[in-house]
Amino acid sequence: MTTIIRGGTVVNADRAFRADVLCYGDKIVAVGENLEAPHSALVIDAGGQYVMPGGIDTHTHMNLPFMGTVTQDDFFSGTAAGLAGGTTTIMDFVIPAPKQSLLEAYHTWRGWAQKSACDYTFHVAVTWWDDSVHADMGTLVRQHGVNSFKHFMAYKNAIMADDETLVKSFRRSLELGAIPTVHAENGELVFQLQQDLLKQGLTGPSSHPLSRPPAVEAEAANRAIAIAGVLGTPVYIVHVSCAESLDAIARARANGQRVYGEALAGHLVIDDSVYQSEDLEYAAAHVMSPPFRGKHHQAALWHGLQSGNLHTTATDHCTFCAAQKAAGKDDFTKIPNGCGGVEDRMSVVWDAGVNSGKLTPSEFVRVTSTNAAQIFNMYPRKGLIAVGSDADIVVWDPEGRRTIAAASQFAKGGFNVFEGRTVRGIPSTTLAAGNVVFQRGQLMAEQGAGRYIERPAFAPVSAK
Ligand code: URP
Ligand code: ZN
Ligand code: ZN
Ligand code: ZN
Repeated sequence: MTTIIRGGTVVNADRAFRADVLCYGDKIVAVGENLEAPHSALVIDAGGQYVMPGGIDTHTHMNLPFMGTVTQDDFFSGTAAGLAGGTTTIMDFVIPAPKQSLLEAYHTWRGWAQKSACDYTFHVAVTWWDDSVHADMGTLVRQHGVNSFKHFMAYKNAIMADDETLVKSFRRSLELGAIPTVHAENGELVFQLQQDLLKQGLTGPSSHPLSRPPAVEAEAANRAIAIAGVLGTPVYIVHVSCAESLDAIARARANGQRVYGEALAGHLVIDDSVYQSEDLEYAAAHVMSPPFRGKHHQAALWHGLQSGNLHTTATDHCTFCAAQKAAGKDDFTKIPNGCGGVEDRMSVVWDAGVNSGKLTPSEFVRVTSTNAAQIFNMYPRKGLIAVGSDADIVVWDPEGRRTIAAASQFAKGGFNVFEGRTVRGIPSTTLAAGNVVFQRGQLMAEQGAGRYIERPAFAPVSAK
């Protein structure tokens, strides 16, 4: 199968240039002006459009069993939705229950993910500690291409990692050439604040952000960074949502520590007024952790992306429908935490970032694809339009418009946090592994076409 994308402007993280892109099988085989292609080749006209590496969403939860229920999107519906939005690789999370073997959980998730329509890879969560966890981490890195481990510093009495687990797992990660990542929120403080609010009779979703203020997140971000600094490991902080966490990252980086930060599309454009809605179903639909924040935090996150203190954009795609959210109608602590977005991230970041002049198209590629590929060791297979890279390509129409609506989305859950937002800048065609999987609103995603991406270990790397 040969495809030629003609007449567009190729945008990589380092530069943009006019070129045709020739794909054969699942790879890019030529990039250049006026390329020859066989007569049988499929021709995609990219005139007036950008040709960019497919998006990498560094943070999704498909098919996740969480807070007593399971997310609406499985690996097929969720990855298909991603392809419709120009995302061609997802990084999902294997989350073992406390005391569950990491390898057993990993194989369970591998089974669920076999229906993926786009390429996928896994961060594995370390939710508890003993010698078997130490051993399984080694097996995962050496035999299964896992090079990142996740630590939830929140969700007490469930998957929260205590300091002993953090320290032991960070140290083991360093030994293995893997990168530790954290969900930074002080789970003990969250728990106590939740109990205080419930005792006061404040049981509705507007209590959710009150139980997780910025200082609760910043404490954990600072602690994770300090632990990483002492042990000499790099650290990647997922879903940075507030100025105070960003400050911790900026400070550590200025001191020569290797710290990376991820921003969610939702945190970049949605503010905490959603929790004040009198429509409690609407407010509950926005319950995710960390919560949406005030506007000055949004401005700080954009500055983080612009300054290079935040590196990736993701969604934390984790969809629950209204009936599932209703489990917490009398107690906000029981609302399953999570929101969607995998279908909308690229357009939302382009519209709010590039159209406003905050990011150049190359900077957009950097924060939606290239940095993720580099930090998690998938580069240059992913994150680059070049000979030998995977033919994961989004042809981007900068003048195309779409009004985001749950009624017309491919993702499940019946809700969209970006509802009603009209974005300018949409994929006209998405290619995944050389196949046209989305074109002008038509989704042709194929169940099971996605491949598991192994990510080799880094040479053991120190933070300084
Ligand atoms: O609220 C969220 N973010 N749910 C998914 C799990 C997590 O914390 O990432
Ligand atoms: Zn195995
Ligand atoms: Zn999280
Ligand atoms: Zn998450």
